[in-house]
Amino acid sequence: MRLAGNRVTIGVTGGIACYKICDLVRNFVKSNLEVRILMSKSATKFINPETFRVLSRKEVLIDTFQYTSAERVEHISLTEETDLFIVAPATANTIAKMAWGFADNMMTAFFLAYKGKTIVCPTMNHKMFTSKQVQENISRLKELGVEILEPEEGELACGEEGRGRLPSVELIFEKAVESLSIKDLKNKRILVTAGPTREHIDPVRFISNPSSGKMGYALAKAAKRRGAEVILITGPTYLDPPYGVKTIKIISAEQMCEKVLENIENVDVVIMSAAVADYKPKITHRKKIKKEESKIDAIELERTPDIINEINKVKKQNLYIIGFAAETENLIKNAQEKLNRKNMNMIVANLVAEAFQRDTNRVTIIKRNGEIRYLPEMNKEDIADEILDELVLDITQ
Ligand code: PMT
Repeated sequence: MRLAGNRVTIGVTGGIACYKICDLVRNFVKSNLEVRILMSKSATKFINPETFRVLSRKEVLIDTFQYTSAERVEHISLTEETDLFIVAPATANTIAKMAWGFADNMMTAFFLAYKGKTIVCPTMNHKMFTSKQVQENISRLKELGVEILEPEEGELACGEEGRGRLPSVELIFEKAVESLSIKDLKNKRILVTAGPTREHIDPVRFISNPSSGKMGYALAKAAKRRGAEVILITGPTYLDPPYGVKTIKIISAEQMCEKVLENIENVDVVIMSAAVADYKPKITHRKKIKKEESKIDAIELERTPDIINEINKVKKQNLYIIGFAAETENLIKNAQEKLNRKNMNMIVANLVAEAFQRDTNRVTIIKRNGEIRYLPEMNKEDIADEILDELVLDITQ
């Protein structure tokens, strides 16, 4: 994620969901973004501005006539220092003011002068949200170029059920990151595989490996943020499907192969980061093997399909293939050999001891033309961006 230095201004208005914005601010600050908070007066009834001041380490602005230094006309100066404006939670009242050009507090005055990207998260009772007035005001905001992040369904603060809840902080964060990211993979369709496969012996026992899916999911997320249309084919993991990514869940190598081949025609790039089992039991028992009844000395195995080889059999020209190599020794030599044997454009080499399950990894990127880039240990989200940078270099040359 390359967001350091970006500046986000958050408008907080008076709804019970205000408290959730504390986590959003923390996530932004942790990602090295600069955060400014504007509050409506009613928001201060739900949460003390001091909380946001401490979290953002910046003065919180409420009234139009507040300023942080005498030289500044705050609601105008701030428009030049904002890369993204988010209103969350956005009440019906503030939505109406934004739609019709009111400028009666710092937030609405700021919005009137601001010309950049804006995301509004309407949050209110479901009857208010579906009212003609609110819906018309939301349409008007859309016409003004504002992105609306629709509220979620569920139990509301008033006790009723319906559409009106603030979307999760993770989703708002992801939307913001996407909105701030450079779209250098726009119009590209990318298939990513992730996680382990499981080759079942019986319904409860299987052969697998410790892949967590973190690397593959990070690649899918980063590609989506950079504008690509992404399909993620994933073995069993504990991770949430990435926002905006078509996620297909599979169990075995054979199923992964089938789904990859089903989709391969419609993509420009395939990234095989999954740890696919090379062998499966020759026989899968439909019922649980009872240890009292059978004595197992050995399990006969057979090869699973090599997915990259299967892709190569049907591949159209210009399909860009990125593979991974997980090795315990001779990392570069073995990875180079795989790159050539499997006819790939790029391979990402990593050591088994450093790669599986951890949030960080240390990889070497090797390209078909012999270029080698040794990367230091970094977190998998950053590695994903480094890999995609190399891809962009190659496909835009
Ligand atoms: O999921 P994490 O916990 O974040 O861990 C990340 C990772 C270690 C799984 C990842 O970084 C990684 O190295 N993935 C590839 C692991 C692997 O299977 O490597 P390999 O050297 O055995 O296979 C080489 C390539 O062939 C891989 O791109 C693999 O997806 C592909 N393959 C393997 C077997 C098979 N039957 N078909 C294949 O296409």
